[in-house]
Amino acid sequence: MKQSVEEMVTAVTHTIKQSAKYGQTSEETIRKLAETAVRQHKKPKAAVKAVRKQLHSIMAPYLGDPDYAAAAVALEAAFTTGDQADIEAACRSSLHSHLSTRERLPLMADFYSRIFAVTGRPRVMLDIACGLNPLAFPWMGLERPLDFYAYDIHEARITFLNHYFRLQGLPPLAKLQDVAHQFPAEQADVALFLKEMPRFERNYHGQGRPLLETLNVNWLVVSYPTVSTHGGRNLTNRYRDFMFQLIEGHDWPVTELLFDGELVFCIEKGARG
Ligand SMILES: C[S@@+](CC[C@H](N)C(=O)[O-])C[C@H]1O[C@@H](n2cnc3c(N)ncnc32)[C@H](O)[C@@H]1O
Repeated sequence: MKQSVEEMVTAVTHTIKQSAKYGQTSEETIRKLAETAVRQHKKPKAAVKAVRKQLHSIMAPYLGDPDYAAAAVALEAAFTTGDQADIEAACRSSLHSHLSTRERLPLMADFYSRIFAVTGRPRVMLDIACGLNPLAFPWMGLERPLDFYAYDIHEARITFLNHYFRLQGLPPLAKLQDVAHQFPAEQADVALFLKEMPRFERNYHGQGRPLLETLNVNWLVVSYPTVSTHGGRNLTNRYRDFMFQLIEGHDWPVTELLFDGELVFCIEKGARG
């Protein structure tokens, strides 16, 4: 008997959720992609292939992950000693396992101090499409209480981040949330959206601008790699133009910070809302 569209969406979602490569991906993310793929492809196999292709670009598994169970144990051991050097070494080791944060490690000494010198130190912060970046907290120079919301679509990553937040004495505010389908609604002083905008615009055509417009924050901090992952081409001018196109028509003051390997824009949206 022929499957209904809904049954096919469920079957495609299930197949991908069972796979080793994308088993940790938020089911909501897979289902949304499956709904589109099933409309475009009659055969389930072709729909599965189409969803996997998109997930390759969205999840970017090639950027790397730690062994989450082992990394959680290492964090616990470090917090048990209570020695700040041990804690920073455990965080650094996890940050090193993912390309975006690995590239940022040499910048950490002044990355956040230069950003927060522009934005002020946040009491409430969002880290959107966060990857492992919340483990950079020890280098952020932030005081508690701090509400640090972090959003990603990788289940093990979110569990790991909340584990870290608890050990660090922060509220466990990492959320499994697909920000392309549900923009973060929390009010905050600063929203970080680091090294993801080009991919986000490619994956969810035209969603970058409404995301930035909707965020209920005083400051947007949006960054770009200055060198391409593969070719070593310099992307600074291209991404600067791209950033200004995205916010064209808005009267938002922008401060640019250029680091070795990362171009950061601090954009003042003004009073929340
Ligand atoms: C290139 S990494 C950047 C990580 C981090 N922002 C940094 O610079 O260290 C991109 C991250 O975005 C997440 N991501 C991609 N699309 C997303 C979406 N629609 N909603 C939430 N997270 C998403 C991926 O799972 C991945 O962890």
